Amino acid sequence: MLVIISAWFSLFVTTVLAPSKHLWALVTTQGFFIAFFSVHWFLLQDFNFSNSLFYIDKFSAPLAILTCWLFPLTMLASQSKIRLEPVNRQRTYIANSTFLQLMTLLAFTTSDLMLFFIFFEASLLPTMIMITRWGAQEQRLEAGTYLAFYTMVGAVPLLIWFTEFYSTHGSVFPTLTNTLHITQATMNYPGLFWVAYNLAFLVKLPMYCLHLWLPKAHVEAPIAGSMILAGTLLKLGGYGILRTSPLIQENTINQALPIMLIAIFGVLTTALLCLRQTDLKSLIAMSSVSHMNLVIAAALISSPWSYAGAMAMMIAHGLTSSALFCLANSFYERTNSRTMILLRGALIAFPLAGAWWLTIILYNMALPPTINFAGEMLIMASLYGWSPLAFLIVALNLIFTTAYTLYVLWTTQRSSLPKHIKTLYPYQTREHLLLFLHILPGFLLILKPELIFP
Ligand SMILES: *[C@@H]1O[C@H](CO)[C@@H](O)[C@H](O)[C@H]1NC(C)=O
Repeated sequence: MLVIISAWFSLFVTTVLAPSKHLWALVTTQGFFIAFFSVHWFLLQDFNFSNSLFYIDKFSAPLAILTCWLFPLTMLASQSKIRLEPVNRQRTYIANSTFLQLMTLLAFTTSDLMLFFIFFEASLLPTMIMITRWGAQEQRLEAGTYLAFYTMVGAVPLLIWFTEFYSTHGSVFPTLTNTLHITQATMNYPGLFWVAYNLAFLVKLPMYCLHLWLPKAHVEAPIAGSMILAGTLLKLGGYGILRTSPLIQENTINQALPIMLIAIFGVLTTALLCLRQTDLKSLIAMSSVSHMNLVIAAALISSPWSYAGAMAMMIAHGLTSSALFCLANSFYERTNSRTMILLRGALIAFPLAGAWWLTIILYNMALPPTINFAGEMLIMASLYGWSPLAFLIVALNLIFTTAYTLYVLWTTQRSSLPKHIKTLYPYQTREHLLLFLHILPGFLLILKPELIFP
């Protein structure tokens, strides 16, 4: 554990000292090494490896590995654009994204909830810097403000609750909760309490109604920012809910029924909203909201199946939406536009990229032999167990998901190239490799899905 964390720190050394010619190659290679060695956490998760600082169990290990895995991919993805900048800016870019991923990783693997809170909030800072410093348009400042305010407002009740918990029980180790026999003081409004202390996580995920910051942040962020945001930062919220849920005893679902309704409604609405988007990146962001609301619903049901579904969904979505952002970015780099109508006819120019689009979008749609399908199945099954009506509503979502999936595919791939496009440079091997490395884990995991089921 410590070895991998120190390897992460050595990335900073590489960033500062590497000769500018080999900077990206060195950082990416080192990232892949770290990712490779982090896979051994899968072996530790069954024994619930824990000490006073690190805690690896079936909730944290898959997400931690995902974080390590996405880092070299973000470096692969951002090379072509950032390389054109002065060397010092390249270095700060790499240092900032390393810092961001490191904070996320530490938040996933720390065993103390107070430290979790600190890392959870610390990830906000580099995200803000990435968006406001390397974003594309001037609206990025607004996006940064939204991000900061939503996140910080959510954080206050969480901090109060953690300190309160610490002062009554003298400890904030989730490992100890089995032995603590928590007796909750009877509260007047248990549902309100649930919402208040989970607000930080609900904002991060984000729940429908609190999601306003997400499309903005995604649209403005540079590619590495988008990938990390969709891939791992949103999962911090889901992880937080799953991790802290044993700390409150009562059956949560009846307390938080309004949240459940909002989540179910949000799944449908955001899927419908996707059909009305013109901006490719904001469509992908909306589809993230839709998927993450399913995770909220699953976390509220809190049965073994729904937890397994939520975990599978988070991992699958981390890979898929990150891949979708890579595809959107590769178009953006060539045409300088995110508007879908200006990207049409890409199949003629890039047939192989068309195949990637098809594959990844089918992943996003949760077609059977993918891990996305496993996650969605489990969540749907546990929803049915809770209420057949809720199941029916979410089943409608499948139709809308298919609809917007086809909508993306049709608008970007079909018909003829727009007239104003004169030059397009071909896809590089780097980009094909990047997309392949996103798809590969999603496929491999379905061969042994127990790895990510808690
Ligand atoms: C992030 O970027 C800012 C501004 O570009 C820079 O001042 C700062 O040192 C960077 N952070 C890290 C951790 O490198």
